[in-house]
Amino acid sequence: MEIDWPALRALAAQTAASAHAPYSKLQVGAAGQVGDGRVIVGCNVENASYGLTLCAECGLVSALHASGGGTITAVSVRTPDGSCLLPCGRCRQVLMEAGGPALLIDTEDGPVELDRLLPSAFTQTDLPGRG
Ligand code: THU
Repeated sequence: MEIDWPALRALAAQTAASAHAPYSKLQVGAAGQVGDGRVIVGCNVENASYGLTLCAECGLVSALHASGGGTITAVSVRTPDGSCLLPCGRCRQVLMEAGGPALLIDTEDGPVELDRLLPSAFTQTDLPGRG
């Protein structure tokens, strides 16, 4: 399915403006396309107990399952001014489960496969009885 990257980037930036980030002041928005064409979003949510912060990509994956599940095929992560961000290490792992190694992640140089950002990932095939 065709991915409208300009629309995904704009939606990620727009969603970032809704983030709750009073401590770091870094508002982050994530927009993703699902295999069936659905478009989903997430934003970061911080807490006075700093370690409880939820990243934008975690909200995105929650939105995936809350809206019917499936596989994410493309993700853009942006700040409100439209700057591109790369998912943190934990979020790369979370996105791997939701989209697999071929999931396209937007970068400043254009989309790359998640496998390039998280090579040799630990997945369910590494669990006993799941290989
Ligand atoms: N953050 C995300 O939302 N996604 C990432 O991939 C990296 C970091 C958020 C967490 C925190 O609210 C703020 O950015 C600063 O680390």
